[in-house]
Amino acid sequence: MTTPSTQPGLFITFEGIDGAGKSSHIAELAGAFANAGRSVTLTREPGGTPLAEKLRALLLHDAMDALTEVLLVFAARRDHLCRVIEPALARGEVVLCDRFTDATFAYQGAGRGFDWQSLLKLELLTQTGCGLEPDLMRNPDLTLWFDLPPAVAAERLVAARAPDRFEAQPLEFFTRVSGGYAERARQAPQRFARIDAALAREQVAAQVLQQVTARGWLAAAGGAA
Ligand code: TYD
Repeated sequence: MTTPSTQPGLFITFEGIDGAGKSSHIAELAGAFANAGRSVTLTREPGGTPLAEKLRALLLHDAMDALTEVLLVFAARRDHLCRVIEPALARGEVVLCDRFTDATFAYQGAGRGFDWQSLLKLELLTQTGCGLEPDLMRNPDLTLWFDLPPAVAAERLVAARAPDRFEAQPLEFFTRVSGGYAERARQAPQRFARIDAALAREQVAAQVLQQVTARGWLAAAGGAA
């Protein structure tokens, strides 16, 4: 017999420039929620559905103009939101998503110079409907922003695999992307938590856990592992 969840869904996103090192922390937080008995949906953008993963491959590897890029990003997001994120939240699950709309403002807006007001309109259009109450726009409950200097991130990326269309961008691009995240954090300070990603791995993990326990979503570790 399955017991229906009485807990409300939780939507947490992870953001930061390429090389900020968020991946392992997402997996770790998923483990912490699972240990606490929560069902977790681990997903990513662009991607998270068969259609959105196809769009991801195009976005990361095919040349295109800025508007095409923006429309594909939002098309992927719409499919992901309607098919995966909203149903999981409705089931009371914890949805951990590697990037969401803040990445669009940071990369396409600040990085590529795409009009911010147009992005706001597309955000509203994409993140409403889909079974949500009328006039309600889906936003993350918490966005963990892995912040570190672009030069440090670039060094970390050097050893990584062949760069995609975004990772191949010059340092100035990532400096603008970083500024885009800072601007989004200024516009929604209650939703954003800045993580100092320049610190040692364990200290970064501790900051992530602290942000989640401080909101009462996980019990604080009482000394036991
Ligand atoms: P990323 O999480 O870095 O994937 P991986 O760790 O496998 O490299 O995301 C892929 C890229 O997509 C990243 O460089 C940022 C870019 N991106 C955008 O430009 N706009 C968006 O809206 C999203 C979600 C991602």
